[in-house]
Amino acid sequence: MTPGGNNYVSNVWRENIFDGTVVFCTGGGGDICSAQVKALVYLGANACIIGRNIEKTEKVARDIAMVRPGAKVLGYGSVDVRNPRLLREAVQKCASELGGIDFVIAGAAGNFLAPITQLSENAFKTVVEIDLVGAFNTLKATLPFLLQSASRAKSEKSARSGGRIIFLSAATYYTGVPLQAHALAAKAGIDVLAANTAIELGPRGVTANVIAPGPIANTEGMRRLTKPGNEKSVARIPLGRLGNVREIADATVYLFSDAGNYVNGEILVVDGGAWRTHGGDSSYDFEYPNFLLSDDNFGRLRTTKM
Ligand code: COA
Repeated sequence: MTPGGNNYVSNVWRENIFDGTVVFCTGGGGDICSAQVKALVYLGANACIIGRNIEKTEKVARDIAMVRPGAKVLGYGSVDVRNPRLLREAVQKCASELGGIDFVIAGAAGNFLAPITQLSENAFKTVVEIDLVGAFNTLKATLPFLLQSASRAKSEKSARSGGRIIFLSAATYYTGVPLQAHALAAKAGIDVLAANTAIELGPRGVTANVIAPGPIANTEGMRRLTKPGNEKSVARIPLGRLGNVREIADATVYLFSDAGNYVNGEILVVDGGAWRTHGGDSSYDFEYPNFLLSDDNFGRLRTTKM
């Protein structure tokens, strides 16, 4: 086993618990999703990750494969979760090359900071389409394989779990944060989609859960959505620090492993308690910034003459 496993998954898990299983992950080139997949591959799974950028997706797949000798990790770029046909093709290719799909991570997301006044209809729709519609497209495309895997896991009564999907969401919408109407509306929808999936597919042995990561260090999300030097907001996190990708990977291993057999329709918030105190969110040094209140900001709104 490659040394350094502890960088991406804690050492409480047995190394071969995912032997013979296959993971399909959207947004797999991202900092959080790639760590989730890395942990699963380290513990025995093979995987297929998809993303929009070909070079990045293929490179991340190669990096992930390094964590375990013999691991098969496929990276398909140029696959946008907004396109159901491309997604279905990637899913079929993954299943035929790796022998099925047991676990799915619906992680593809798009985000930026913008107040409602400066958010075009298309900007709102774009993020909802990537995050929420993309999650639905992922579920639909992988569902036949999830059902197969769940039924196999049930009939074999084996130690091998299967037929599980994790949606990536965010806890920040429980309270709301400024400049995030588009992303948080999508995340709320994702939580509802997960709950309904749990209810409708549970009887077939498929489980659906949500992981809601908080402020996680060294991720694109933090780079995009927080200001540098946000020490005050980090101090507001009850655990007093940013999280790390390994902590999201551990939550993923828990939900996909035998330890998570009876967990269905659950939202697992992994944020050090941050959402309760707006910790880690630098916009919560927020005192209604002047630009948000200014006539300049509202002046951008168009009115239609009746
Ligand atoms: N503020 C306000 N509006 C923005 C914006 C910003 N920072 N960035 C993009 N938009 C708007 C665009 O202007 C466009 O609206 P318009 O047609 O009315 O002008 C709309 O969003 C779509 O943008 P576009 O660039 O065409 O979409 P895309 O599909 O190429 O990219 C995004 C999607 C916008 C989410 C882009 O930021 C992205 O690709 N992100 C991927 C990485 C990422 O966000 N990861 C999440 C980590 S938290």
